[in-house]
Amino acid sequence: MQGRLNGKVILVAGAGGIGNGLARRYAGEGAAVVLGDIDAAMAAEVAAEIASSGGRAVGIELDGADDDAIGRAVALARSEFGGLDGLHANFASFKDGDSGADILEMPMDVYDEMMRVNARGYVLCTRHALPAMLERGGGSLVYTSSGAAYMGETVRLAYAMSKVAVHALARHVARRFGPDGIRANVIAPGVITHPRFEAVMPQEMSEAFKEAQAIKARLGAPEDIAAMGALLMSDEGSFITGQVISVDGGTIMRP
Ligand SMILES: NC(=O)c1ccc[n+]([C@@H]2O[C@H](COP(=O)([O-])OP(=O)(O)OC[C@H]3O[C@@H](n4cnc5c(N)ncnc54)[C@H](O)[C@@H]3O)[C@@H](O)[C@H]2O)c1
Repeated sequence: MQGRLNGKVILVAGAGGIGNGLARRYAGEGAAVVLGDIDAAMAAEVAAEIASSGGRAVGIELDGADDDAIGRAVALARSEFGGLDGLHANFASFKDGDSGADILEMPMDVYDEMMRVNARGYVLCTRHALPAMLERGGGSLVYTSSGAAYMGETVRLAYAMSKVAVHALARHVARRFGPDGIRANVIAPGVITHPRFEAVMPQEMSEAFKEAQAIKARLGAPEDIAAMGALLMSDEGSFITGQVISVDGGTIMRP
């Protein structure tokens, strides 16, 4: 199905494996997309690819944890495309990912950085996006979380905590601004493979991830997250708000 996002303007904060897929799908559904990342060259490259296939997109340098930079991104959505209807906050710091540290060993500067980018950054993005969306009479906020928010791992404490924080953010926004036409939801991906992920993931770990899923045929792809994002951004998702939705091949089944 195509054209479900015709006439909408969406800021995707955070490109990369999943973010590039979000931008491609949203533009493919007819939205004008502002794609921002600290890796400005990647965002520009993906936006150019979208534009060359007939879509509307601009790629910009964006530090999603920097108040001024987010303000500029929202201002660009207004000046370039006339307003803002959707924000997908998708970027993440993975700084505590490789350390193997538990709570006793975790350097507190790493904890602070994870919370600054992954939790506080999403708050800042929301504070800038909301007024622009309210001006349009409503809109949809989508946040990318992670199955790590539920798993109780021995490592990656700061990552998991930063993602759980976003669930509370979405519920607050959904409840507070629902009467004004705003929806806010979270997508919690399972293991989503893409070239950047495959570059660091040993084959046997990929097999173990697959084994943990209910669906055994494959791991997730950016397109799986983008499909859920497109629903949540679209008017077809207009009765869905305040939810955390796992897209993980059935790895985690919450009541
Ligand atoms: N790939 C997976 O298996 C998986 C699983 C669960 C959750 N997630 C979540 O999905 C999202 C995307 O992950 P991915 O797999 O595409 O990783 P990725 O590394 O390919 O993309 C992350 C992007 O965020 C950008 N970024 C980092 N800090 C930033 C900042 N301050 N401002 C703007 N951009 C910044 C990076 O430059 C990168 O392009 C993340 O929120 C991640 O936590 C991914």
